[in-house]
Amino acid sequence: MVRISPHDPIMSVLFRRLAESAPRVAVTFDGREVRLPEGENLAAALLVEGLIDFGAGPRQGAARGPFCLMGSCFQCVVAIDGEPGQRACRAVVRAGMRIARSVDA
Ligand code: FES
Repeated sequence: MVRISPHDPIMSVLFRRLAESAPRVAVTFDGREVRLPEGENLAAALLVEGLIDFGAGPRQGAARGPFCLMGSCFQCVVAIDGEPGQRACRAVVRAGMRIARSVDA
């Protein structure tokens, strides 16, 4: 799992939360607990936390992550609660979500 520290200077340039929007709830990302604001867009919430690697694509297994953030590119596909093929940019954070990176065959 690629993770950039939320304290890495590049994060303030790339992704930052303008205001804390909601109480944080626990979810897991590849088995690791992360606390995200409930109701926030899942892809955006993960990016702000430094989780940028959502899986590997079919071409040479290259890492992929959200690109369009509007449901068109499918680069944000993950498994949510065991259901594969879910677009993180079309999902909202809820307590207890189990998110897993997906690797395309
Ligand atoms: S980021 Fe493009 S479909 Fe989700």
